[in-house]
Amino acid sequence: MPTPDFRAREPLLRRREVCLRPAPSRERLQAVIAEVLARIDDNLAVFTHAFPAPSSVGGVYPAIGNVEWTNGFWTGMLWLAYEVSGEPRYREAADRQVRSFRLRLDGRVNIDHHDLGFLYSLSCVAAWKLTGDADARDTAREAADVLLRRYLPTAGIIQAWGDLSDPGQAGRMIIDCNLNLPLLYWASRITGDRKYASAADTHIEQAVRYIVRADGSTFHTYFMDPKSGAPVGGKTHQGYDDSSCWARGQAWGIAGFALAHRNKADPALLQLAAQLANYFLNRLPEDLICCWDLVFTGPPHPRDSSAAAIAACGLLELAGALPPSDPDRTAYQAAALAIVDTLGAHYLLPRAEPGTGVLAHGVYHMPNRIGVDEACIWGDYFFLEALVRLTRDWEPYW
Ligand code: GLY
Repeated sequence: MPTPDFRAREPLLRRREVCLRPAPSRERLQAVIAEVLARIDDNLAVFTHAFPAPSSVGGVYPAIGNVEWTNGFWTGMLWLAYEVSGEPRYREAADRQVRSFRLRLDGRVNIDHHDLGFLYSLSCVAAWKLTGDADARDTAREAADVLLRRYLPTAGIIQAWGDLSDPGQAGRMIIDCNLNLPLLYWASRITGDRKYASAADTHIEQAVRYIVRADGSTFHTYFMDPKSGAPVGGKTHQGYDDSSCWARGQAWGIAGFALAHRNKADPALLQLAAQLANYFLNRLPEDLICCWDLVFTGPPHPRDSSAAAIAACGLLELAGALPPSDPDRTAYQAAALAIVDTLGAHYLLPRAEPGTGVLAHGVYHMPNRIGVDEACIWGDYFFLEALVRLTRDWEPYW
């Protein structure tokens, strides 16, 4: 990877304090997993033929069809629940949903965006990995083909949003895309065709160059000129402003660059993820659950528990990949444990009517006032993924 001018990581301000925090016992983590599974059971009847909306309303997810960028998260939770429990009821519901992802692809239902990775990694790739479902494998591979069509060779990026002829979205990449790239790497692995991986490699290089700022914070989105390939500039969509650092974007960055290292074994990616991690960890409130934008570090600004859950997975991925000599490696593991412990102890919604979410205090889209201080379905997914990562040897669906 052409190395960006590597900027030093900020010193991690709370390394000692985090490392000295007593880690939750395995039994305690298992008890939280049981709490999450109980909530999945409460929702199984509502969300087998339907899916939860991206964010809750008063803590309860409205039921929707397979039409959003977020549908894979619930199916992914079902696969995780199946993995940890072996209970066929989760697999049966997940299998049913996998068929709905095939219909969505065939019907071209809202697939004109880059979130095919979120959708198809957690549903169909997971099905293939866990059950050997060949139809699911073929569906996921076709989804990767659709995603690859969004690659703009001159700019070297996957365009995030919009029909490719839409001038308002032309040449826009976003940090969230880091989690869509694993679908491309997976497609190269199963087909033996490098075209998917080489597009993902180039996109990652462009994201490293332009989306990450010199101080280790990130733009949410960045425009490239699709005709000349020249950089145009950064723009937020869900953050506070163009110069701030949207907390979930930073979390997508930590998790995504660390995951990219599985596919593109360049140690610079880990150093970059560590730089983002330190920026994130140095701007957390006392309980380590971030506000929705890292420009804020406490009340009255809402937390985003979903960003915290994503970051916890990213920190675990990072801690698992860094060499033992890395000065912050143990702090990343300890911080992830502390975040997950706090979420389990203080951020669980009480069990209530069917459709109730798992994690309270997430934020979907603050500028548009959507899902503010609500459960977000990706937050629930990444919380369970973090718990699974902490309690077993887990092969990611990514
Ligand atoms: N990927 C969209 C979001 O994080 O809200």
